[in-house]
Amino acid sequence: MSEPKETDTFAALEKREWANSHVARSYAQVFAKAADMVVPCLIEAVRTKPGTRVLDLCCGHGNVAAGLIRAGAQVVGLDFSTAMLDLARAAVPEAKFIEGDAMALSFDDGSFDAVTIGFGMPHVPDPPQVIAEARRVLRPGGRLAFSVWCGPEVDTALGYVFGAIGEHGSKDIALPPGPGANDYADPTLAFNVLKAAGFTDCRQSMVASEWQVTDPGAPYDFFREGTARGGAMLRPQPASNAAAIRAAVVSKILEKHGQGPEWRVPIPAIVTSAVAV
Ligand SMILES: C[S@@+](CC[C@H](N)C(=O)[O-])C[C@H]1O[C@@H](n2cnc3c(N)ncnc32)[C@H](O)[C@@H]1O
Repeated sequence: MSEPKETDTFAALEKREWANSHVARSYAQVFAKAADMVVPCLIEAVRTKPGTRVLDLCCGHGNVAAGLIRAGAQVVGLDFSTAMLDLARAAVPEAKFIEGDAMALSFDDGSFDAVTIGFGMPHVPDPPQVIAEARRVLRPGGRLAFSVWCGPEVDTALGYVFGAIGEHGSKDIALPPGPGANDYADPTLAFNVLKAAGFTDCRQSMVASEWQVTDPGAPYDFFREGTARGGAMLRPQPASNAAAIRAAVVSKILEKHGQGPEWRVPIPAIVTSAVAV
């Protein structure tokens, strides 16, 4: 399993982590149960109808593409991880999946009616460039929708895990500088970037996604095994730090969500949508 290297850039870390087939599989099998709950909102936000031509950026294992196909869309999914693309092609044979970078698309101007991005924005080094590329490949009147996890200002597993890393993690382990995980949940930032790129009618809505678990430490495991940024912070921790981080997550979940034996742990998301001018 890979660890953050001192010379890592944010882009290199993201590329390496998502290329790891264990991370890709863990994300698809477990972490994405919460991401899957956001798919209907993305599909609704781009007004998908039979025949709508949709580009699904950062498509991962194909969960958004699967929903779009069910709604009758013609779907092209794009991701830079071949491990993710293998999963997507197996899961959604009706869609076309291609390897590529969301910051430099090979499609002609105006070639799609809609662009979706499920939890891709926090992973790209230059989110405004992705929004600019989405605008370029959309026809006027086409729609963009993207999802981002809410930040720690609300009750969220993401806040519990990263809060515990801040308190109990080794100070020698840090992520390379990059965009904040929740930056694009902020409407001021998101709408300003969208308007500058040629979008109008910017909107946001919250989706109450969650994990249902029988182990209150499971959200720690989901972040450790199935995410790029969380995994890079959690996997290299010395055993004593790792145990303290997991224990802090467990205690936060018991405090906030009761004594069990089952827990519904919130990990809410924001879906932002806009229309190409
Ligand atoms: C958190 S997963 C999201 C998967 C899926 N869209 C969902 O909603 O659950 C992020 C995905 O973005 C991909 N990704 C990250 N940076 C990328 C880039 N610059 N270009 C293309 N794909 C990228 C990763 O390989 C990974 O599959």
